[in-house]
Amino acid sequence: MYHNPVLLNECIEGMAIRPNGIYVDVTFGGGSHSKKILQKLKEGQLFAFDQDADALGNKLEDERFTFINSNFRYLKNFMQLHGAVPVDGILADLGVSSHQIDDPDRGFSTRFEAELDMRMDQRQHLTAKSILNTYELNELKTIFSLYGELKNAGRIASLVVNGRNQNEINSTEQFKELIGVCAPRNKKQKFFAQVFQALRIEVNEELASLKDLLQQSLEILKVGGRLVVISYHSLEDRLVKNFIKTGNFEGKLEKDFYGNPNMVFKPITRKPMVPGEDELALNTRSRSAKLRVAEKI
Ligand SMILES: C[S@@+](CC[C@H](N)C(=O)[O-])C[C@H]1O[C@@H](n2cnc3c(N)ncnc32)[C@H](O)[C@@H]1O
Repeated sequence: MYHNPVLLNECIEGMAIRPNGIYVDVTFGGGSHSKKILQKLKEGQLFAFDQDADALGNKLEDERFTFINSNFRYLKNFMQLHGAVPVDGILADLGVSSHQIDDPDRGFSTRFEAELDMRMDQRQHLTAKSILNTYELNELKTIFSLYGELKNAGRIASLVVNGRNQNEINSTEQFKELIGVCAPRNKKQKFFAQVFQALRIEVNEELASLKDLLQQSLEILKVGGRLVVISYHSLEDRLVKNFIKTGNFEGKLEKDFYGNPNMVFKPITRKPMVPGEDELALNTRSRSAKLRVAEKI
């Protein structure tokens, strides 16, 4: 299976779909969310983005559906190009699909020996391998610290720099062996997952793309339109939460001349929704999911 959808019904409910509205699924993947959205539409339209060309294979054959093989950070431009603004709802199910993780050749997984790639978009040049072999010590330290939330980021970065002076770092196993001495004895798997996550975020510029997406969502949504976002780690969720609350990423609520808060969204979910026990039992990859829904004011 390409990807087992997460919080599917909750997302569709959160979208509060208008049958003749314009909707965007900015993370198409296996297309399960898109399929459900289409079922709710009559004369509406659905646009779907995915930067991974593999997702194209799941394209829906329906004249109301348009697939755009691009990063969602160009959302506004593409929607304008299609003459499809403003929109009624935007769905983002962030991160990577199971298809991407389970394909050994993509280099996302700590489980397989593979070249260190980790690009969601195969057209881009930057890979995990080029980062490890060319970034300065301090840049590497920042990535491991900020994106992996690793306490020993400096030591990991030093091991990488010393290691690559001996031999170019090419593969997942070679990399794991190099930094393995930093892994806490009983938490090796978690440690490697955090390191790989940090590299993946850097390769795909995930946080910068998410910021662009959120800002452009606000610009192209109709008043009363819905923003629905599933995030999978705290760095993403913090950006989504702050932006919904305040319209900026710092979470600082601006007030107008009279002291009234300048709200841009009405939060529909006060607290993020998470998968229930039944979903968790069926799909362990849903365990870190957090869903937030907001309506443009
Ligand atoms: C978690 S999966 C989405 C799964 C989908 N909702 C489903 O049920 O099949 C995330 C997908 O979004 C894509 N993606 C992630 N970040 C993206 C970005 N910045 N621009 C475009 N696509 C992105 C990935 O390539 C991946 O296919």
